[in-house]
Amino acid sequence: MARIFLSRKIPEAGMKRLGEFTGDFLVFPHDRPITENELIENIDDVEGLLCLLTDPVTRRVIEAGKRLKIIANYAVGYENIDVKSANERGILVTNTPGVLTDATAELAWALLFACARRIVEADRFTREKRFNGWSPTLLLGTELKDKILGLIGAGRIGTAFALKGRGFGMRVLYCDNHENEVLQKAIGAEMVKMEELLKRADFISSHVPLTEKTYHLMGKRELALLKPSAYLINTSRGAVIDEKALIRALKEGRIRGAGLDVYENEPKISHELLGLSNVVLLPHIGSATHVARDKMAETAVENLIAGLNGKTPPNLVTIPKTL
Ligand code: DGY
Repeated sequence: MARIFLSRKIPEAGMKRLGEFTGDFLVFPHDRPITENELIENIDDVEGLLCLLTDPVTRRVIEAGKRLKIIANYAVGYENIDVKSANERGILVTNTPGVLTDATAELAWALLFACARRIVEADRFTREKRFNGWSPTLLLGTELKDKILGLIGAGRIGTAFALKGRGFGMRVLYCDNHENEVLQKAIGAEMVKMEELLKRADFISSHVPLTEKTYHLMGKRELALLKPSAYLINTSRGAVIDEKALIRALKEGRIRGAGLDVYENEPKISHELLGLSNVVLLPHIGSATHVARDKMAETAVENLIAGLNGKTPPNLVTIPKTL
């Protein structure tokens, strides 16, 4: 019987699906991210691993999993897995694309609005009982109409994000490896070089996976190209942006603000970032809707079972594509 190890309990929808499978499974009993050593201790005689984006599935882990056939990530991003090592050993790797697209795109808009209309700051102001009456200049923000939205990466989530903004009257620029005909036809989006996008956009939103090529894609040089009135939104991966350079830009007022759901060294967040008032900070909740998390759980389990049954899992990944 196939032995499966889950590095953490996943939503009931996935556990139920797993229960229908005849294989024997074990769930890591703690409600916290598993460590590399704990993975190694648990993977010895396991054929299927269901893991999370917080889990370091390194070469050491993969080598310890001598009977491992499939690693099913409960996430669309899979930079936590050494895919090359897995591929070398013929171990399948899968992810959960599609099912969290809308949830993540919606959260990117929530961050964008929170920045543009200073929602978090205004809430704090109100709770602190500082609202003494309507004022012509109280908490003025940025209007979206006629502004330029810049997408760094126009894959599934970037596309959904831009399409959801159709009603706001913004112009859309994007940079990607490939032309995006859907965006071009539906909203007249223009594909430009990253440098041009950074110079022209009022709101820049990152939607690229983290790879060797996208690590610090936005560093000091790139951030210096942004308009002083620009906002940066990141719901992809923290390390796509050089966090130190971003903090400097925010501190020196070289950009107006940022909305971040992801960080370079999660779950650690730099004190400097926590102390800034021109940022909105969220705890990596892009896909945190009931629907998305249930579907992610079902998808991850379906991938896992297919792989263990000798079938090609629906969401097989290879070495990540780069921007
Ligand atoms: C993913 O699936 O990669 C997301 O970051 C989870 O929210």
